[in-house]
Amino acid sequence: MGKEIFLTGITTTGTPHLGNYVGAIRPSVEASKDESKISYYFLADYHALVKCHDPKIVKQSSLELAATWLALGLDVENSTFYRQSDIPEIPELTWILTCMAGKGLLNRAHAYKAAVQENVDKGSSDDDKDNDKGINMGLFSYPVLMAADILMFNAHKVPVGKDQTQHLEMARDIAGSFNHTYKKLFTLPEAVVEESTAVLKGLDGRKMSKSYGNTIPLFEPEKRFRKLIMKIKTNSLEPGVPKDPSDCTLFAIYKAFAEESDVKDLTKRYEDGIAWGEMKQFLFEYLNDHLKESRIEYEKLMNDKGYIEEVLKKGAERARNYSVPFLSKVRTAVGIQAIG
Ligand code: TRP
Repeated sequence: MGKEIFLTGITTTGTPHLGNYVGAIRPSVEASKDESKISYYFLADYHALVKCHDPKIVKQSSLELAATWLALGLDVENSTFYRQSDIPEIPELTWILTCMAGKGLLNRAHAYKAAVQENVDKGSSDDDKDNDKGINMGLFSYPVLMAADILMFNAHKVPVGKDQTQHLEMARDIAGSFNHTYKKLFTLPEAVVEESTAVLKGLDGRKMSKSYGNTIPLFEPEKRFRKLIMKIKTNSLEPGVPKDPSDCTLFAIYKAFAEESDVKDLTKRYEDGIAWGEMKQFLFEYLNDHLKESRIEYEKLMNDKGYIEEVLKKGAERARNYSVPFLSKVRTAVGIQAIG
């Protein structure tokens, strides 16, 4: 058997934060160096348009994400790193797959159902009976775009968050329909959900997420970074009173970065009643040390957009070495080809 193919994308709608780093970016950067695998990483900028209609944000986020991955040492020689919109075969495949995807299947997608439910809860059905109010077709059919991302490169394994596993089931379903209807061209992909990957809490104690506005950007300048750490919500226990690490946001963040022995030491300090102010300063210094060098690299890259563009263009060229001939097989299979 050949090498296993891994593929994952990240939507370009926000500034990368500590939660993204721990959950997705750090494991990807590690995996990019693994020579026993073939891996694809991409900026999902078409996906961004589903939710974000501010061109400045989409553009800025693409830049920040690319700079982040590169600053953290993504191995772009051993892996293929590209921007989704540089691969015109992906939207083309999306249409072909759209015609293989059951509408009923997409009706059941969590993101779509949640949007409908929100309308039902708001009572928008009362005045015009439209539970689809404000929902665009991109939101409805984005699992097909995601299927095309994955099937385009015949990926076996797709590292994603738990919330994305349904999309992988849909990708398999759609691939199966195509294979059955036309020709067995697509690999059925599997989600890889890393249970041990930490899900970080944000400033307010809820899951760190751009939709809650509670994130700590990964490469915030030092001063602002410290300020944000100081803002993390804690309980009101006084210094000297033993504290429980298990429901503490500060502790959880530390744990996602530190070695096991350091975590043990800190547990002891919690038992001894570390003061919150002291803990925050400690966490800031620890993270700052950990991120300092990459932050310098990040700032350098942010000022060298030409270089980033060049890296992405090279990645796209490499990706298209695969996608162009493969899509041509797909087109032939469905009957779209030269007549004479
Ligand atoms: N939808 C994914 C998310 O929100 C991002 C994504 C787009 C993706 N295309 C993909 C992930 C293909 C894996 C494979 O996280």
